[in-house]
Amino acid sequence: MSDSIYESKWEEFITECNACKNCELREGASNVVIYRGNRKASLMIIGEAPGATEDEKGKPFVGRSGMLLQNLLGSVGLTEEDYHICNIVKCRPPENRRPKPNEIASCKRLLAKQFALVRPKIILLCGSTAYEAFFNEKAAMHACRGHFAEKNGYSIMTTFHPAYALRDPSKKIPMYDDMMLVRRKLDEMLAQEATDS
Ligand code: URA
Repeated sequence: MSDSIYESKWEEFITECNACKNCELREGASNVVIYRGNRKASLMIIGEAPGATEDEKGKPFVGRSGMLLQNLLGSVGLTEEDYHICNIVKCRPPENRRPKPNEIASCKRLLAKQFALVRPKIILLCGSTAYEAFFNEKAAMHACRGHFAEKNGYSIMTTFHPAYALRDPSKKIPMYDDMMLVRRKLDEMLAQEATDS
C-alpha cells in the first residue's frame, strides 16, 4: 500500500472514531481519544480508558499515570517513536469508572481496525481491564504478567496499570522488569527483520 493510501486510511479511521455513537460514553466525553505515538510502531500499548486529562487533551496517557508510564518506558530506552499507545475504549467513562462490557464490545470494532492499520508485533496490555478485553477471560495479575503470551500472531505482555503503581510504588519494579522484557523482544524482532531483508 502506498504511503498516501495508508495515510488516507488513517484519516478515514480517525473520522470514523470521531463520528462513533455506538455507546453512551461519547455523550459525556469532550474528545474521542484515539492514539498517541507512531502510527506504524511494532509495539502497541493498550490501557483501559481515557481519564479527565486525556479527555481534555484528546490523547491517551497524558495525565499522572501517563507520566509514570512514559518514565518507565523511557527507562528502558523506549520513546514515542517506538510505540503506538491507545485504550480499550476511546471515550472517558463518567467518574473514571471501569468501562462496561457493552462499551468494551462496542469499541472493539474500532480497535480491530486500529490493529489492522498499525500492524504491531508486540502488545503491552496495562492492567486487568485490557487483559480481560483482549483474552476474553479474567486472570489474577500475578499469573498473567511477567511473560509473553502468543495470540493471533502477536507476542503479548501484560503488566500492571500505571495508576495502580501510583497507589503502590512497589509495583514500579515489576513494571520495569516487564518493560525490559518487551524492549529485548522488540530488539530481537527488529534484528531478525534486518537479517531477513
Ligand atoms: N488510564 C488509562 O488506562 N488510559 C489513559 O489514557 C489514561 C489513564
